[in-house]
Amino acid sequence: MTIHIYKDVDTQSQAAAGLFAAQILQKPDCVLGFATGSTPLGTYAALIDLYKRGIADFSTVRTFNLDEYVGMSRTHEQSYYRFMVENLFDQVNIPKDNYRLPDGMAKDLNAECAGYERAIDDAGGIDLLLLGIGLNSHIGFNEPEARFSDGTHVVDLTESTIEANKRFFATASEVPRQAISMGIGSIMRARAIALVINGAAKADITKQALQGPVVPDVPGSILRFHPNVTVLLDEAAASKL
Ligand code: F6R
Repeated sequence: MTIHIYKDVDTQSQAAAGLFAAQILQKPDCVLGFATGSTPLGTYAALIDLYKRGIADFSTVRTFNLDEYVGMSRTHEQSYYRFMVENLFDQVNIPKDNYRLPDGMAKDLNAECAGYERAIDDAGGIDLLLLGIGLNSHIGFNEPEARFSDGTHVVDLTESTIEANKRFFATASEVPRQAISMGIGSIMRARAIALVINGAAKADITKQALQGPVVPDVPGSILRFHPNVTVLLDEAAASKL
């Protein structure tokens, strides 16, 4: 694991976008994994800028997102599908058929999970996966548990995640209670991972994940066993290391 600390989120975002642009340059038909939430917004803005300047070409890139809420249609303003379309896909030249998120409206959720995992395999696996981390150290929606999960699966969101995500909804009762998420196994099978963490609120969990014991109760800690993780922190997130 290599850890880089940047003076601010803007510089951190440029660096993270640089990793993705380099991956696309090296392998134009690469498979990328993407996250939603506040953390990757700067990275996506920097990637859009690289696209507009002719540096990053998404025309043959395929992508898989980490997760999607259960019971939420693609058009819902809080769906992760819509988040990705608005914050990245519609602003670069990625063909519509080349990006995929789990379908939270699938009638058979278990079949959707199995199909999603198979689609990642069929695409040749993920070359570079962007990760954020939750205040409880979840990665994707893999919440603290007694054991590490494997493939894509349906998860029950914890109270702390519902609390953290309610800022996007009118009331906490509107926050979905379940999501489909890549599992810890799906994440660990990515060939390379870029973990982006920023803000003072994440300083404690950054320390736990990067320097505490590797335990399923701190899901992000598993990344220390991955052979190719680049961690990009701002000074605030790194302040307790
Ligand atoms: C989102 C995801 C989550 C977020 C995490 C941090 O696709 O997988 O693990 O990365 O909840 O969210 P923010 O960035 O909003 O603090």
